[in-house]
Amino acid sequence: MQAQELLIFGAGGFGREVASWVQRATWNGHGFRLLAFVDDGLQAAELSGVPVLTLERAAAAHPGAGVLASVGDPRLRQRLIARAREHGLTATAPLIHPSVEYDARSVRFGDGAVVCAGSILTVDIEVGEHAQVNLDCTVGHDAVIGAYATLSPGVHISGNVALEQCVFFGTGAVTLNGSPGRPLRLGADAVVGAGAVVTRDVPAGTTVVGVPARARNQVSGGAQ
Ligand SMILES: CC(C)(COP(=O)(O)OP(=O)(O)OC[C@H]1O[C@@H](n2cnc3c(N)ncnc32)[C@H](O)[C@@H]1OP(=O)(O)O)[C@@H](O)C(=O)NCCC(=O)NCCS
Repeated sequence: MQAQELLIFGAGGFGREVASWVQRATWNGHGFRLLAFVDDGLQAAELSGVPVLTLERAAAAHPGAGVLASVGDPRLRQRLIARAREHGLTATAPLIHPSVEYDARSVRFGDGAVVCAGSILTVDIEVGEHAQVNLDCTVGHDAVIGAYATLSPGVHISGNVALEQCVFFGTGAVTLNGSPGRPLRLGADAVVGAGAVVTRDVPAGTTVVGVPARARNQVSGGAQ
């Protein structure tokens, strides 16, 4: 069996969840071999039986390994990937849990993207590099999930919706659908609070909460 070697950046909760299924899952006979968590802030030699390395040590020991950044905050994920690149490391192939349902003929995943158990992506969808689709999400036809976007558990993105890069959706948030040629659009760095229902476009950098979702204030992080 061909196994791609993998380094998971960030040993927090989501990193450990992904590590757990990645170590057990195979896809058409292919799998991933988890080499280590990479976390400069963790004072531990191993976690759940997996070595914990600093970035410098990981890059020196495993120069050919693929990188997955597992933190939920889009901009932090982007910074981690930039640092990994500075050290010569490149993104992993997309990590799609074997239970995920999607039409492989028309759904495209960028490198470094991760899609967790129970999620369903229908047809004609683009998932950008290093995007994160957590447990039990649905993504409808003609949707675009931008690079580094985060969908927390139970998010529902309807058809004809476009998320620009680094958009964050909290747990259980949903969108209404856009229309062909006029997608419902969320600008870069928009944050959608847990449980919100997005009914219209969200400008870049804006935090919206509630039902229907309304702007709370200008975002300054707060995605965790
Ligand atoms: C929207 C969000 C980003 C705002 O974070 P924040 O700026 O730290 O906001 P605060 O916690 O300081 O709350 C500020 C106010 O907004 C309200 N609020 C916060 N989140 C809300 C939400 N999702 N829906 C409605 N109101 C919300 C708070 O009750 C508070 O109201 P108050 O001032 O009347 O007391 C955050 O609350 C959120 O929903 N994050 C998603 C978390 C998540 O789903 N994580 C996934 C883990 S896998």
